[in-house]
Amino acid sequence: MIRPARNHPGYWAFLLHRLTGLTLVLFLPAHFLVLGLALDAAALDGAIAWTARPLVKFGEWGIVVLLAAHMTGGVRLLMLELLPWSERQKTRIAVSLGLAAMFGVAFALGLV
Ligand code: HEM
Repeated sequence: MIRPARNHPGYWAFLLHRLTGLTLVLFLPAHFLVLGLALDAAALDGAIAWTARPLVKFGEWGIVVLLAAHMTGGVRLLMLELLPWSERQKTRIAVSLGLAAMFGVAFALGLV
């Protein structure tokens, strides 16, 4: 159960940023492992064929959405840290989530 004091957009934005960051950290070793298969062309071809599965494609989209959410949230945090204080933090959180959602839709439609 979430503590009432933490039930705030700023806390949810922090939690999202931490969880997306940690998930991306978990993804990177798997990514490098697959890249390492390039030493053996047949092994790389097998891995690339595996990525054509619908569930893997869906996971790929999920990684893109997580990266987009972490990137837009990260830019928001950098603005918070580097720019003069603004009262519009909730607006910025909403904008960062909206931009991340737009990245997700654009990727799903094959636009990016
Ligand atoms: C895409 C551009 C990225 C931007 C703009 C960005 C920005 C940031 C910022 C500003 C923070 C500090 C948050 C704070 O002040 O508390 C942060 C934390 C972090 N980032 Fe990124 N980041 C990016 C990409 C990545 C990637 C690719 C990964 C993983 C491979 C990653 C993993 C993390 C982790 C684990 C944290 C610590 C989270 C926490 O302590 O809550 N970031 N990021």
